[in-house]
Amino acid sequence: MGARELAELILERQPCVALTGAGVSTESGIPDFRSPTGIWARFDPLEYGSIEAFRADPRKVWSFYKPRVAMLAEAEPNQAHLTLAELEQLGVLEAVVTQNIDLLHERAGSREVVEVHGSIRSSTCPGCGERVALADVLELLREADAPACPDCGEILKPDVVFFGELLPPSAIDRAFELARRARLLLVVGSALEVHPVAGLPLETIAAGGDLAIVNRGPTALNDRAALRIDGSAGEVLAGVAEALRGEQPQQPEHAR
Ligand code: APR
Repeated sequence: MGARELAELILERQPCVALTGAGVSTESGIPDFRSPTGIWARFDPLEYGSIEAFRADPRKVWSFYKPRVAMLAEAEPNQAHLTLAELEQLGVLEAVVTQNIDLLHERAGSREVVEVHGSIRSSTCPGCGERVALADVLELLREADAPACPDCGEILKPDVVFFGELLPPSAIDRAFELARRARLLLVVGSALEVHPVAGLPLETIAAGGDLAIVNRGPTALNDRAALRIDGSAGEVLAGVAEALRGEQPQQPEHAR
């Protein structure tokens, strides 16, 4: 099973929606979380990625986030991001639902991007609610290890979803709506271990759609996939785009 079969499935099963995870950004030099070399192999998520940890010791959490924010801001979109943007332009991909906070789908040109775990686009003051854009946070981090609110001096919190926090309601509602309407949910680079996002493919399947997975290594929903390709996101998606250029999607059933 390869890229050509996936391209045919995408054309047959419209609308198609992508669900991406950290595996789509590793080829941009950003480590994922659960690979053997992933972030959670080196940092305890409860100590550095939970809202309790942030409230208890925001400076300690920023000791993890300061280098991470700088690295994410320096990273460039890779073939996988660029190809998903091309599939949207070709009219065969309706949206990208992403668990990633790195802004790389938007920077690659994707227009309909649903960031279900927030992003590094801004940080917010827990004290007064002031929202500070990434560029200003990076400026604050040139002089300090943790960015203080310009208005009240409290340490800012990145606008990303920490463990123990609710997901942004508008984003997760939109993601479930897209998953229910999708005839194909294309998972790229996610182990599908974290809920509620890992429940999206089951919504697609329950509504009569299919699941396709492009991922290096196993995922929690391998046995539910109509098609699974174990390989590099960038290479596989480049092969899909190659196969789709010049093809037009079949009109979705309801449009007939
Ligand atoms: N091509 C394809 N797959 C890849 C690639 C690649 N270049 N690089 C890594 N992968 C695979 C890994 O093998 C792994 O199965 O991508 C998957 C990434 O899974 P995770 O590291 O669990 O990342 P993700 O699914 O995005 O995690 C979900 O967990 O910690 C939280 O908030 C964090 O959004 C994150 C959430």
